[in-house]
Amino acid sequence: MKILAFNGSPRAKGNTSTLIAAILEGARSQGAKTTEIRLHDINLKGCMGCLSCRKDIGNCKQRDDLSPYLEEIKSAAGIVMGCPIYMYRISGQMKLLVDRMYSLYANLPEGGYKSMVKPGKTYALVVSQGADNPELYQKSIRYLAGMTGSGLGMEEAGRIIHVNSEVNPAAKNQSMMNTAFEIGVKLVKNSKN
Ligand SMILES: Cc1cc2nc3c(=O)[nH]c(=O)nc-3n(C[C@H](O)[C@H](O)[C@H](O)COP(=O)(O)O)c2cc1C
Repeated sequence: MKILAFNGSPRAKGNTSTLIAAILEGARSQGAKTTEIRLHDINLKGCMGCLSCRKDIGNCKQRDDLSPYLEEIKSAAGIVMGCPIYMYRISGQMKLLVDRMYSLYANLPEGGYKSMVKPGKTYALVVSQGADNPELYQKSIRYLAGMTGSGLGMEEAGRIIHVNSEVNPAAKNQSMMNTAFEIGVKLVKNSKN
């Protein structure tokens, strides 16, 4: 069983990275193989707008370091989507990935979209923000879940909204770290892939 974590924070030791590491540890405790893709550190290009994925469904024509991982989503048991809030929204690195995930949807003749990934997968969300109100960026968080895990038909194993990051670093919040580990366990246990 494979769990893929897409990390949209540029900070290798930041809050998103710390929480993703705990989730992946939980997943490995259940025998999963885990891979973290640090979007800031790979050669990641944006969607070309070529729309070839409307015909060649499930395949993105753009070629870069993300290409094999986009493909791996189809065979993975679950995914983790993690990123900080930048300027009220998901980070730019994460938005590049979200746009590329358009290739994982097919248009339906009657309108709307159909997921091209097999049912039975799980997903988890990690969002880290400076502001202390966890409701403040719900629109962005709903967007991230809706365009990725839930939009693709995956079952949510859990989400962490980490707030007030300056005075509440994730690494020092043991109960949050424990929750992250448990989410990793559920990612594997609840997956049917
Ligand atoms: C460019 C930039 C923009 C940010 N914008 C916001 C924001 O709009 N709202 C907020 O609450 N925090 C904002 N922050 C703070 C980060 O979301 C916060 O520090 C977060 O914990 C960083 O996550 P990381 O440690 O995983 O990198 C911003 C930080 C940066 C660098």
